[in-house]
Amino acid sequence: MLELDISHGLVPKEKLPRLLKKCASVLERMKGIVNAGGYADPASFLNLPADQTMLSNVKRVARTYKVDAVIVVGIGGPNLGTTAVQEAIQGKLWNATEWTPKVFYADTVDPKNISDIVAIAESLLLQGKQVLVNVITKSGTTTETIANAQLFIQLLATHGKEPQDWLVVTTDKDSKLWQWAQQHNITVLEIPGNVVGRYSVLSPVGLFPLAVAGIDVDQLVAGAREMRNRCLEEQGPAAITAAHLYFHHRDGKKIHDTFIFSTDLEALGKWYRQLMAESLGKRQNLSRKVVHAGMTPTASTGTTDLHSMGQLYLGGPSDKFTTFVTLNKEKKDPVVPTTKGFDQLVQNIQGKSLGTIRNAIFEGVATSYAKNKLPFVSVKLAHRNEKSIGAFLQFKMMEIMILGNLWNVNPFDQPEVESYKKHARERLAKMQRF
Ligand code: PA5
Repeated sequence: MLELDISHGLVPKEKLPRLLKKCASVLERMKGIVNAGGYADPASFLNLPADQTMLSNVKRVARTYKVDAVIVVGIGGPNLGTTAVQEAIQGKLWNATEWTPKVFYADTVDPKNISDIVAIAESLLLQGKQVLVNVITKSGTTTETIANAQLFIQLLATHGKEPQDWLVVTTDKDSKLWQWAQQHNITVLEIPGNVVGRYSVLSPVGLFPLAVAGIDVDQLVAGAREMRNRCLEEQGPAAITAAHLYFHHRDGKKIHDTFIFSTDLEALGKWYRQLMAESLGKRQNLSRKVVHAGMTPTASTGTTDLHSMGQLYLGGPSDKFTTFVTLNKEKKDPVVPTTKGFDQLVQNIQGKSLGTIRNAIFEGVATSYAKNKLPFVSVKLAHRNEKSIGAFLQFKMMEIMILGNLWNVNPFDQPEVESYKKHARERLAKMQRF
């Protein structure tokens, strides 16, 4: 599913075993949670890939919707993982292909973007097509989500579509939104109690819209489950990369760049960015000491960002640790034709596939990083498929939990996000209606 290469990780050989030893207690805790099963622990995202009841239920509900478009309404945890998986498998240009269902994401309250999605959905409804709206919010009270949800519910109503038939709500049991949905006979999917947004992609949050979109959620979850078992081992990939991040962060690398050599995997980098930023960026540690912990995650796309960020990465301050992500082989891989005269422009590309050229560029970049003593690890995904992506998601969620433990911070809360939400609500209360 995926291979990890740490040969340029620049952690001194004698230090790695000691760092891995530091991870032993959290690995034991993880094993305990897995053995106990259920969702009582804040880290119970670990149990999602083994929850066959939840998976069957999600698939059963998803099967009832044969739609032309699905609109995912949610922000942060409720949408970043879904976008990452859907784009990785179906491609960023999915909506421009002949395939259905089209997938749209209504996350922020951007007037133009939301008006555009409403207009597209309206045009589909006018053509007699079926549009499903999936509102996803754990709290049920996120301003952006509820504002957008109302607009799409209004759209359904204007076109005579009953919300009972075309709206699915994914939220915490007994949230106010849950109660509203129950009162209105709307299908509700439960987000397991302690699973927080950024760890929820393998819960109904991600699995339901992905299943409706045609993603093989069985394989996604199977990849995650296999990786969970690998990462529970002492020398599993999550502990190894967490140890590298811990070491280099102490050594002054305050930025973690996830540099993904695939356009369609760009959103996977953004998913990880939220996971690392929100989980580890903490004012206080677990002993309530003010520490301002954090490592700034950035997401780069290869080869595109070599032409925008590459100069800084190679020539600028040595303050970054990099995780390269590459794909072993692509199913579709066009070969550059041998057009007369073009070999004068760039030699040695004619007759080679784009994947081969991309790999050569990646290897060139890796060599430059190594020569400049810039530390990095590489993750090679065996395929662009559900199994590999599921494995990557699980690996990274476990890496962040381990790192949270090494830093003595709580990787499952987000007090500052809650505080901005509260202040925004206060501002709105003081504003006029129109
Ligand atoms: O990871 C998190 O907890 C956050 O990013 C939330 O997902 C985000 O703020 C949205 O919250 P909610 O699901 O309550 O709408």
